[in-house]
This record gives sequence, C-alpha cells and structure tokens, in this order.
Amino acid sequence: MEGGILRTYLSEEHHRQNDLAASWMQEAGLSTRIDAAGTLIGRMEGREPGLPALLLGSHLDSVPGAGRYDGPLGVIMALEVIHRLAPHRDQLPFAVEVVAFADEEGSRFGSGLFTSYAMAGAWQQDWWEHTDDQGLTLREAFESFGLDPTRIGEAARAPEEIRGYLEAHIEQSTQLEEAGRALGVVTSIVGERCFTLTVTGEARHAGGTAYHHRRDALVGAAEMIAAVEEIGRRREVVATVGQIEAAPGAVNVIPREVVFSIDLRAPADAPREAAWEEMSARLHELAEARGLRLTVEEFLRAPAVECSAPLQKVIAAAISTTDDAGAEDPLHTYSRAGHDGVAMSEVTEIGMLFIRCTGGISHHPDEHVTAPDVALGIQAFEAGLGAGPQLKMGLADNGSGQRVQLGRLRPSPRPPDRSTSRTSRRGGRSCPRSARSRTAPPSGSGST
Ligand code: GLV
Ligand code: MN
Ligand code: MN
Repeated sequence: MEGGILRTYLSEEHHRQNDLAASWMQEAGLSTRIDAAGTLIGRMEGREPGLPALLLGSHLDSVPGAGRYDGPLGVIMALEVIHRLAPHRDQLPFAVEVVAFADEEGSRFGSGLFTSYAMAGAWQQDWWEHTDDQGLTLREAFESFGLDPTRIGEAARAPEEIRGYLEAHIEQSTQLEEAGRALGVVTSIVGERCFTLTVTGEARHAGGTAYHHRRDALVGAAEMIAAVEEIGRRREVVATVGQIEAAPGAVNVIPREVVFSIDLRAPADAPREAAWEEMSARLHELAEARGLRLTVEEFLRAPAVECSAPLQKVIAAAISTTDDAGAEDPLHTYSRAGHDGVAMSEVTEIGMLFIRCTGGISHHPDEHVTAPDVALGIQAFEAGLGAGPQLKMGLADNGSGQRVQLGRLRPSPRPPDRSTSRTSRRGGRSCPRSARSRTAPPSGSGST
C-alpha cells in the first residue's frame, strides 16, 4: 500500500491509539477504561455521579491507505466539546462519555462494527471464528491483545444507561461542498449489501486455445463488472467492485477462476433490493452465455438506519447557531458510508453531524477537512449539547424548558426477532479474506 494510514482492530496500533487517546481524555479530566471489546471510553459525570450518559464519538481504526479524518475527527471533536462542557458539568442532567470504537472499517477480520455491536449488546458467538490474513481467529486475537473473550457480554450497555449516541464525521461525499455548506444533518445511514462472486471457467494455454474454445473467467467477470456499474447508475444506487483476484494468475494461462466483490448501497432498502434482483439475473445470464459457473455469497446485509428525529432537530438547531453559510436552514443529507451508529441504533437513539470534506475524498491519504469547518462543527456540537451560554439549548434543555427524552422514544430498543437481524450485521468487508475463507463463509451469509 502506497502511503496512508492503517490501524486495525486488536493490533499493536490499536494499543497505541487507545493509549494516546486515553492520555488526551485524562488530560481533559475524564476517567477512562477499555471495555471488553477494546473500545476506549472516557467519562465525565454530570451534576451527580451515575447519571445515564450521552455518548459522543466515532472510531480510531482505519481502512488500508486511509486519510487522517475518517473516524478520529469525531473522537477529537467529542473531546474538545467535553473540554468546553466541563465548566458546566454541575448543571448537566446527564453524564457524557467519549467513545473511541476500534473496528468500524472491518479491515482485519473481514467484518466491521464489532466493537459497536458489542456495546449494543448484539455480539454473535459465530464471529469468534472470523480470521485475519494470517489465519488468526478473532478469539485468538482477543487473547493476544489482552482481552478475555468470555467477558464480551460486559461491553453491552443497557438502554437505560444511555441517553443517545452522537457522532461527528466527515461527509465522505460532496453534497455539502456542492451546497457551499460546512455542516449537515444526517438523516439516515445507507443500507448496504456485500457479496463475494466466484466465476469459474477453465484454465487453458493462452496461445493454443482458440476463442471459441475458451471459458475465460476473467473476461466473463469483466462483463459482469461493467453490468454492475451500468445497472447501478441507471437505478441510482451505488454499486462498487473494489476487489478482484484471478487464478491461476499467469500471463500465458487463460484465467480459470475470478473472485470479486460487490458493495451495493442505497438510502432505502427497496431500491437496493430491486437493483440487486436485476444485477443478479443479469450476472447469471452473462455467465451462462460464456459457459461459466457463477456462485454468489452474501457476507453483509445491513438495512438503512434512520437517525432519530429528535436528534436531527437538535443538530439542525445547533447548526443554525453557527456562522455556517445558510445555517438558518441546515442541509439534511443521508450518509453514503456505514458508521458505528448502525450498531448503536440497536440500543439507543443516534444522531450524526457531517463536516464537509474536500472533494468528498475519503478512504484515501488525501482526505482533507479545513480547520474553520471543524471549528464550526465544534461550535454546533457544543450548542447541541447545551454547552452554550447557560446551557440554554440543546440536549440539556431544548430552549422551551422541555427536555428531549432521549432513550425513551423507542418502545423496544432491540428488534423483536434477533434471528432475522443476524443477516443485518456487517458480516464482512474484505473480499480477499472472504475469498480465502469461501469454504467457511462468515456468519450471516447466504447464497444466491
Ligand atoms: C465505511 O467507511 C464504509 O465502508 O462505509
Ligand atoms: Mn471509513
Ligand atoms: Mn468512519
């Protein structure tokens, strides 16, 4: 990988990121702990000890070749806001915690959101068998990191301990930039399905095999990839083939097998399902036309998740107190990227504040935000938490004297049928890893 950052779950970097961020939290007067899944948590009590906590944060892990802001910005902004809130803590009707999740991206174990699902109390036992590139299981990695797999349940937070989860994050798209705004309210987090496709043909001599005798898996896969993009564009969903491997991978051998990934996203589940139906039918047709075999394995299915309406209102009102362009009418947009809020929505209300990122560039070393935009974001976050003058607005007091009752808005914080939500987990992120373990697919997988 040329350039960029890589911080993966349960690695040496994970230890170092936790140590460094914990030292910043301690300097800000927070008490710190690492939970049973490896998430770093810093807590500031409210006007009395033991009150339910408003959680602020994001993740410190990264994709390979990452920039500096996807994740860490949200943790650092949360810390700055707490720092500003500290003088008012004797008035705060809740505790505030900064959470630094450690596996949002899923760059190591073919899966993401492990740490936030652990906090949401939704850990699944079959995740222990996920492996990394070295064949180390998640269970083994836990142990070598110094965590005890048998205590994973202790990471779970009860809904009544939490007032909500708020995350500031770079937008990773261009809606804000195109609108000339620094800040935006997130309405929902995109729904996502990911697949590993295996195209099987026949390896033959590259010189001696006439075209009409070839069953070239790579040419078939190339047609499929083009079809994925065409259908995605036409149906206005986002479809990406990010990984591909061809075997045997020799210059003079017709490729026998190709494994590639599809990442399919849409703001709502129905258009995504319709797009997948068309894609799946088309890909099978293309395979058949070339005498190839196609198998499709799903390794991730996450429904689109709504941000809570009251938190959207708080964030919009908070943005309107800033000097952002058009702040009186803040831009609302959905998140095209996945976030820890997807997992946290299983246990509490979630809200997200977006910060403009230059050119929408993300998952790339050139990821960039400006200091003035971050300053506006902190100002909004602070107002949203009621940290402004005399705590006169935001979550502490919405300005009309009426508290926003976070955490009590959802009758049931968990989906009633846990077995159906199993497939809605992020079950994987990495096609090479899925490809490697395709005889033992990760949990939540299905075949079509
Ligand atoms: C997370 O960054 C994602 O892939 O959406
Ligand atoms: Mn990311
Ligand atoms: Mn992120």
